[in-house]
Amino acid sequence: MQTTTVVAKTMDFDYEQVEKLLQEFVGKKGVVVPVLQKIQHEFGYLPRPALEYMAARLRIPVSRVYGVATFYAQFHLQPRGKNIIRVCRGTACHVRGVTKVAEKTKELLGVGVGETTADLKFTYEEVACIGACGLAPVMMVNEQTFGKLAPEKVQAILKKF
Ligand code: FES
Repeated sequence: MQTTTVVAKTMDFDYEQVEKLLQEFVGKKGVVVPVLQKIQHEFGYLPRPALEYMAARLRIPVSRVYGVATFYAQFHLQPRGKNIIRVCRGTACHVRGVTKVAEKTKELLGVGVGETTADLKFTYEEVACIGACGLAPVMMVNEQTFGKLAPEKVQAILKKF
């Protein structure tokens, strides 16, 4: 008996884009992580409709797809900013006053830890030592490191992006 996969579609989502990504994986096993990586690479995060479509198309329970997506730190279920800010909360940075830098950064962006600005320009994160303790307090914006920070320096850094 032939079965058909029924996928509830959300009107404004580009399922064809996802379908193209899935082509090489249909009928294969052990593909959840690589498929999620492809979807995230394409969209910048894992949109819910894409995950539901993927599950139905590859005949994998949605719960398993979400289980994997939430297990690995590399995957993001919410949209991410164009620029990722990582403020170091390691010991050296703490001792040298990173808390005030962190507070100022969150205040200027209007977001909390793990959140993204409404214009999708910045995502704010806090991380453990990033290995630049000599420059403490430190933050990274994407791959760029900014050291010897003070709250009054944050605005000028944000303006660069
Ligand atoms: S503690 Fe911040 S860079 Fe090491």
